[in-house]
Amino acid sequence: MASVVDEARAVSPVDVSDIALYVEDKWREPFAKLRAEMPVSWCPDSPYGGYWSVATHALVQAVELDPATFSSSWENGNIVIADPPPQSNLPNFIAADPPVHTAQRRVISPAFNPSQMSEREKVVKQRTRELFDGLPLGETFDWVERVSVPLTIGMLCILFDFPWEERHDLKRWSDYGGNVSPETATEEYRAEWMAQMQAMLARFDAEFAARKALPPSDDLLSRMVHSEAMGNLNPMERLANIALLIVGGNDTTRNSMSGLVEALHRFPGELDRLRADASLIPNAAQEIIRWQSPVTHMRRTCMRDIELGGQALRKGEKVILWYISANRDESVFADADVFDVRRENARRHVAFGHGIHRCVGARLAEIQLCTLIEEIVGRGIRIAPQGSAERLPSPFLHGFTHMPVRIVVG
Ligand code: HEM
Repeated sequence: MASVVDEARAVSPVDVSDIALYVEDKWREPFAKLRAEMPVSWCPDSPYGGYWSVATHALVQAVELDPATFSSSWENGNIVIADPPPQSNLPNFIAADPPVHTAQRRVISPAFNPSQMSEREKVVKQRTRELFDGLPLGETFDWVERVSVPLTIGMLCILFDFPWEERHDLKRWSDYGGNVSPETATEEYRAEWMAQMQAMLARFDAEFAARKALPPSDDLLSRMVHSEAMGNLNPMERLANIALLIVGGNDTTRNSMSGLVEALHRFPGELDRLRADASLIPNAAQEIIRWQSPVTHMRRTCMRDIELGGQALRKGEKVILWYISANRDESVFADADVFDVRRENARRHVAFGHGIHRCVGARLAEIQLCTLIEEIVGRGIRIAPQGSAERLPSPFLHGFTHMPVRIVVG
């Protein structure tokens, strides 16, 4: 039964956290309605409890720029729509507010600076080329399994200097770390989740110990272990920050790579444009990130009663920032559903977030996507979907579990 408070609220006609919307690819219309009619709306009942939806580009940015009112801290809630079960908070720096966030981010971000990135770029290009050399011609294969997953896992191995033979562990941990579907609520799942996370921590602790014994260097794990802000984290904080780096870098880029195939298939003229003018490739990488929006949302928790978009939000309530909707906002992006490699303002997307938490790995993701597009363009091939793709049952990550394709030359 709706409470008095609920009755005064703009109530969303659809629970946009419903995974069916993403599995069936039917999310565009409900979000268009929210943007047009109620940019801030209340969903009183969902598998994750009541939550506010913020649906427009301007309001998503406004919330992100006010971290004192809209907290990311795990102590106040969570950064995704689902609340963590008791005792399983992840106290990492994405789930922190200043000053903890500021100090820890300062340790991590130099590992993604331009000189570090241009070093990584060489290896990314080489790995991508080798992977394409091994893809079958004239045969159906799963793009997710053969391309998106290995390329992004390869990138993580490069980023952490992690042994290639252990890449399957990284993938499994990332899948567990990033899963926010309703199945995660069962006790059985939580027990398995904790076992996987402990195994990940033990493996990374061995790497930290090896780095600690050496003089400080520029690599990510060395920076962490030798820093004041991150050198003495407790086990749960270490676990949480590792999970952040491998989930943050993995599913997001993976699903952009799969989204690229779908976008090029739905808008076939765009590949011709890229072939005619390769200088469009960096913009195409941004456009695919906008178009796919691999992270559908981040969540904040309201720290005081406040008015937003004409609605009265109460202290303690969940506020969901729907990037997937903001990136389709027609007041910013003309014909927003169209994948357009020449879109002049593609970079204004908020798929990487905005403000103090804006993605630290953005440049690395861009390098990977540019490299992938260069490979497709340079080889003169098309990636032709064979039947329908299977989509991720998640209200948080927007992507694919399987995508049967064939490589077509010409
Ligand atoms: C933060 C998206 C790739 C690491 C974020 C946020 C989003 C995001 C939405 C939160 C922003 C906010 O709350 O305002 C993406 C997308 C990617 C991508 C769409 C690929 C297309 C990467 C990569 C890495 C990475 C390759 C590195 C391995 C992180 C980290 C944060 C973050 C560590 C936390 C930053 C902070 O809280 O200050 N990302 N990401 N991401 N991302 Fe990414």
